[in-house]
Amino acid sequence: MNATQEQLKVKLQQAMGVAFGQEYAEADPILVTTNNPKFGDYQSNVSLSLAKKLGQQPRAVATAIVDKLDVSGLCEAPEIAGPGFINLRLKTEYLEAQLNAIQTDPRLGVPLAKNPKREIVDFSAPNIAKEMHVGHLRSTIIGDSIARILEFKGHDVLRLNHVGDWGTQFGMLIVYLREMYPDALTTANALDIGDLVEFYKKAKKRFDEDENFKETARLEVVKLQSGAEDTLHAWKLLCEQSRREFQVIYNLLDITITERGESFYNPLLSGVAEDLAKLGLLVEDQGAKVVFLEGFTNKEGEPLPLIVQKSDGGYNYATTDLAAICYRTQKDEAKRIVYVTDSGQANHFAGVFQVARRAGWIPDDVEMVHVPFGLVLGEDGKKFKTRSGDTVRLRDLLDEAVTRTRADLEARLQEDGREETEEFKANVSQVVGISAVKYADLSQNRTTDYKFSFDRMLSLKGNTAPYMLYSYARVKSIGRKGNIDFANLGADVKIMLREEAEFTLAKHILQLGEVIATVEQELLPNRLCEYLYDLSQKFNQFFENCPVLQSEEPVRTSRLALSDLTARTLKLGLSLLGIQVLERM
Ligand code: ARG
Repeated sequence: MNATQEQLKVKLQQAMGVAFGQEYAEADPILVTTNNPKFGDYQSNVSLSLAKKLGQQPRAVATAIVDKLDVSGLCEAPEIAGPGFINLRLKTEYLEAQLNAIQTDPRLGVPLAKNPKREIVDFSAPNIAKEMHVGHLRSTIIGDSIARILEFKGHDVLRLNHVGDWGTQFGMLIVYLREMYPDALTTANALDIGDLVEFYKKAKKRFDEDENFKETARLEVVKLQSGAEDTLHAWKLLCEQSRREFQVIYNLLDITITERGESFYNPLLSGVAEDLAKLGLLVEDQGAKVVFLEGFTNKEGEPLPLIVQKSDGGYNYATTDLAAICYRTQKDEAKRIVYVTDSGQANHFAGVFQVARRAGWIPDDVEMVHVPFGLVLGEDGKKFKTRSGDTVRLRDLLDEAVTRTRADLEARLQEDGREETEEFKANVSQVVGISAVKYADLSQNRTTDYKFSFDRMLSLKGNTAPYMLYSYARVKSIGRKGNIDFANLGADVKIMLREEAEFTLAKHILQLGEVIATVEQELLPNRLCEYLYDLSQKFNQFFENCPVLQSEEPVRTSRLALSDLTARTLKLGLSLLGIQVLERM
């Protein structure tokens, strides 16, 4: 609900109180935005629900409310329509005043959260020595955008990378490392083992084929857990190499994130198990220690267990997440914890949240949210793979987006007979290519699977990054053509609304705050994409119908200012998606 809506709500409540008695001043006036300009901008449907209570006709109720309603500062005279809807149309002067007020505001009128709080966004979280796959790419892009939006609203956001850097697989990796690079372990130099994913595969093969190797690997896990120095050294070497590779991707995507991997919680795991045992939640089940979940059953209707400690004494992914919850609620004092992973982990998080809640580790004022997303599919609708059937490396994928953008750009330049410097071409290709990948992901409702298609995401038409960036550059080009210095148009520029297309555009611009508030709650960045796409289209409508540079003053300056406000809204909105704009492309 935006500030205007809030004011109208209060006014309606006051009128209801005066018309029907004080207890009605608390009723929800059911104020909605209309989707047809014929009915004004907002509509209250409250008369229909009050009619029954009051034993009156809805139209009579509406008339009684309108009689006492004073919205003259904001709206034209209210109209009663149909069975008793109250239609409200914002006054032109009111809209103009709002636009003029946000012109000098870098936040474009978007308010800060009333109760800023500490929020954790747990995202990206690839696994050491395994590959960072497209699922991690989705988590990275979506998580980053959510974090940016929460930060913009003024929350104190902790961006955490729960890297998979611990577990039994390290036994096998370290033993293999000792075999392959005996020297590396005794020198202080950084190690380059080349392709880590290949390395992982080979280690796994040795592990599966050789019983001796398997046994040594098992002992190595014990050494790792007890903190043996040489084992820890080998573990660190592996982590460092992975980390360097992840960082390349984060740099390309402009991602800031703090690493706090699974190993961080290792010292807390036995305490988690002990506490659960003391609380009487932990039971023995086939040698393992488990908590039986309420409301989760298998096919036979038996309750499902959350395994806290395996029969070999080792702890689990879930145990680590339980420890992380304690740490994050107690030490970090987080009030909302958001986990961005694929939907496949929905049950994991539901189970972990439940156990933590039953153990009393989640205070009442803390909100736990799993933000699930669907799979990335190839254009054939099957699992996303390279032509030869291998998993796609993120690095290659991002490089390809940039290379393809470059080819498109060169073709466009040639067609238009434009000459540009190498620097320009490299920068445009980089920004557009990376933005295209991000936007394609963010513009989907994250809960559905999405088909990865370079052709679609790089198209200049449709709800794509190139289209959005192009819209922005187009507004900027109007300024360039007219030799206008947008930054110095000044605070005394007055936007005036006359034409239908101006009203439509202006009202949309004023809705930014509402959209951001929705994303803040629902954590669905695609809503922001839709808003920005609509904005571009409404701007195009405006630009087709309302001459800007050819107009006489003061209309010319007013339209320039409205164009500038559009560009700034696009820029701000895109920045919250982690997308940088281009002045020219
Ligand atoms: N490393 C995990 C994976 O690759 C994701 C971790 C998500 N965060 C968490 N707290 N469990 O699937």
